[in-house]
Formats: sequence, C-alpha cells, structure tokens
Amino acid sequence: MFTYQGKTALITGASSGIGEAFVRALAGRGMHVMLVARSEEKLRALAAEMSGQHEVRAEVIAADLGQEQAVQLIQQEVERRGLTIDLLVNNAGFGTYGLFETISPEREHQEVMVNIAAMVALTHAFVPPMVARGQGAVINLSSVAGFQPLPYMAVYAATKAFVLSFSEALSVEYRRHGVRVLALCPGVTDTAFLKEASAEPLIVAPKRTPEQAVATGLRALERGRSVVIDGVGNAMLPQVVRLFPRALIAQIAGQVMRPRGAGMSGQAAATQKR
Ligand SMILES: NC(=O)c1ccc[n+]([C@@H]2O[C@H](COP(=O)([O-])OP(=O)(O)OC[C@H]3O[C@@H](n4cnc5c(N)ncnc54)[C@H](OP(=O)(O)O)[C@@H]3O)[C@@H](O)[C@H]2O)c1
Repeated sequence: MFTYQGKTALITGASSGIGEAFVRALAGRGMHVMLVARSEEKLRALAAEMSGQHEVRAEVIAADLGQEQAVQLIQQEVERRGLTIDLLVNNAGFGTYGLFETISPEREHQEVMVNIAAMVALTHAFVPPMVARGQGAVINLSSVAGFQPLPYMAVYAATKAFVLSFSEALSVEYRRHGVRVLALCPGVTDTAFLKEASAEPLIVAPKRTPEQAVATGLRALERGRSVVIDGVGNAMLPQVVRLFPRALIAQIAGQVMRPRGAGMSGQAAATQKR
C-alpha cells in the first residue's frame, strides 16, 4: 500500500515528457509536487495548472543538474521551504547517439552528471530522512537500454545500466526501513528524448506514451516491486537478451543502431547536439 494524498513528491525533468506526466499523475492523486528542471517558464506554467486543478501545493526549483552544486542547492531550497520529500522521482536525463569519437566529450560528461551523479546525490539528500521516518519511496528512470550494451549509444546505455543496478541494490538495503526503491524501465516513448539524442530516424517500433510509462511505474511502486519494464513487448527484450551470449547481443544491437553513412572510414554521419 502506498499513500499519495497529502504527501510531497520531488520530480526532476518535470518540464516535459515522462517527468511532466509524473507531475500530472501525482498531483491528480493529491500529492504536493516540487518541479525541477532548467526550463523555469515551462515549470511555472505546469505548477500553476496543477495547483489550479487540484488541491495541492505545486512549486518550482529551476536547476541544471549537470552542474556540480545543483543538488546541494535543491536540498537547501527544499529545507528553506519547510518541505518533506516522501517520493523522489529521479527522471531527468538525456541520451547521445553516434560513433563514440564524434560525440563531444563535454556533452557526454553532462550526460553522466545528469543521468548518474545527480541521481545518486539526490538519493543521498532525500533517502536518509525517509529512513528516519520509516517511510518513503524513490523512482529512478532506467530504460530497456540498461539491460544490454548498446553500440552508438554506449554512454547512454551504460548510464541506464548503472541506474538499474543502483536501484535494485538500494531496494534491498532500504526495504526493511520502509523505503521503496524502483527502477522504471521504459522502451521507446513518445517524448522529445529521441530528437534530443538525434536518434529519431532509428526508431520504427511503435512508441508508448509518457502516461503509459508513468501508470506502469506507479502500479509497480504500489506493489513494492524493485524493477518494472513498461509495455509487454518491451518486457520480453531482457528475457531474450538472457538467452544469448552477451557478445552476440552487442553485435546485433550494433547492426540495428549503426548510423546511416557510418562506413569503413570511421567517419560517422551521426550528428551530435550542442
Ligand atoms: N523517451 C524514451 O524513449 C525513453 C526511454 C527510456 C528511458 N527514458 C528516460 O526517461 C527520462 C525522461 O525522458 P523523456 O523521454 O521524458 O525525455 P524529455 O521529454 O526530453 O525530458 C527530459 C527531461 O529532463 C530534463 N533535463 C535534461 N537535462 C537536464 C539538466 N541538465 N538539468 C535538469 N533537468 C534536465 C529536461 O528539462 P530541461 O530541458 O527543462 O532542463 C526534461 O524535463 C530520462 O531519464 C530518459 O533517459 C526515456
């Protein structure tokens, strides 16, 4: 049993996609919501909509989770506002796509900072008070990409494998303290993510919606699960991966993911953002 009403959730990456869907779903269940991302205007508009539609407090903390001090500032801001975080949704994240050498090292450093370092730091900031209260929950956004190596999205898939392993381990550590930890693993979901990663042309599979991913995550949280994959088709993928040698799976993934025009010369046609 997980109670939402009257409790407070902090959601990172709340300005679009799956994070925005989390905000809507949680506010709809009577949770106060703290919205974190860089796009302050979008967050303010969404917060105003939520507090107008539901009897909840909806607040904004604009922060760049790629910056070293961001989590400390968020923690201070939460304390200054006298809030207690009952549910932490570590959702902010992005991916890079292309031949490794063509992707900017700075961009991939940011990817590791946002997808991993900020998630770990936020968990450090907000789980100890949950343990002290004997209740609370964390949902971390992993991905089906976390179950196997993914050539041409090598760093992204590795960050999501980290999230998966980290969440499963913490789920065991904290279960007996009344704190649930869940890794939510969506497959291809209809958000700005693929465009942001410049990987849109790759995807031919039908996309799930952010609302479906969130509904799957909340159902799993209520059931006390430590890992959930969104979508029946997506859920089969890790089962298939387990049946074959990992090297073979990586080879096949490489064929599927290979950017068009990335020939023997090693010159990738893949683009990179920023
Ligand atoms: N869509 C998919 O197919 C898919 C599949 C599996 C897993 N996921 C995971 O789901 C999560 C949400 O992605 P999405 O699909 O909803 O993509 P999205 O629509 O692009 O949303 C990404 C969110 O992360 C925030 N963000 C990015 N960089 C940030 C930074 N430096 N500091 C603070 N916030 C930052 C963005 O906000 P600002 O730009 O306003 O900062 C935005 O709110 C990610 O962790 C992603 O890896 C997505």
